[in-house]
Amino acid sequence: MAKQRNLILLGPPGAGKGTQAQRLAARWGIPQISTGDMLREARRAGTELGKQVAAVMDSGGLVSDDLVIALVEERLQRTDAREGAILDGFPRTIPQAEALDALLAKMGRDPVRAVAIEVPRDDLLERLGGRRSCPKDGASYHIQFNPPRSEDVCDVCGTALVTRPDDRMEAIAKRQDTYERDTAPLLGYYEKKGAVRKVDGVGELESVLDRITRTLEA
Ligand code: AP5
Repeated sequence: MAKQRNLILLGPPGAGKGTQAQRLAARWGIPQISTGDMLREARRAGTELGKQVAAVMDSGGLVSDDLVIALVEERLQRTDAREGAILDGFPRTIPQAEALDALLAKMGRDPVRAVAIEVPRDDLLERLGGRRSCPKDGASYHIQFNPPRSEDVCDVCGTALVTRPDDRMEAIAKRQDTYERDTAPLLGYYEKKGAVRKVDGVGELESVLDRITRTLEA
């Protein structure tokens, strides 16, 4: 089988994981797999899963490991992920990382590489505070750094943009705490395997993308 690209983007809320995952996926022709997007899509569709996770997501907590692991397992088995995938927002806990390693091994896939996107806390707050999202297709913008062509309207479908419920100040604070407690330890997990590189996430969107690709090619 040809060499695969299984890449994880790590970083705190607002680091730019979704923004960069989307660009890398387009550049490499492999899918972006965002557990946050999958869960928001389930909410928009009004499925049982969506109803089950809504309150946890809005408060800034984490959905159960078993649930997201099952979502990712199903998604990785689709044919478009045969050549690899960009994982954004998963894994988020050590049990999720262990489950992903086991899953890729079981599927005969290459192990993951990880890029940790580093951004100072003040910038994170500015990014999350200015983010606007499309409630219909999930597209994401920033009022200053990545504005839509027409103010407050989605470029893709023309729907009025909204602020994500978990981008309220109290939810942002809880997400940052959750990240420090449950997700930051993944850096050590991947460092021990020699599988993680750190990248400065401050600057123009395209400059950060170039930094990530150069780091991976080095
Ligand atoms: P998820 O959607 O994954 O949220 P998150 O990890 O908190 O990440 P964000 O989407 O807030 O930030 P991002 O790093 O993707 O930044 P973005 O590119 O959007 O998860 C949401 C919730 O779902 C979780 O809280 C949890 O409840 C649940 N969940 C999801 N996965 C889970 C899992 N595996 N286990 C358990 N629960 C799970 O950028 C942010 C803003 O900054 C944007 O407006 C963007 O335009 C702007 N921006 C991006 N790059 C730059 C730049 N270089 N300069 C200036 N602005 C920039």
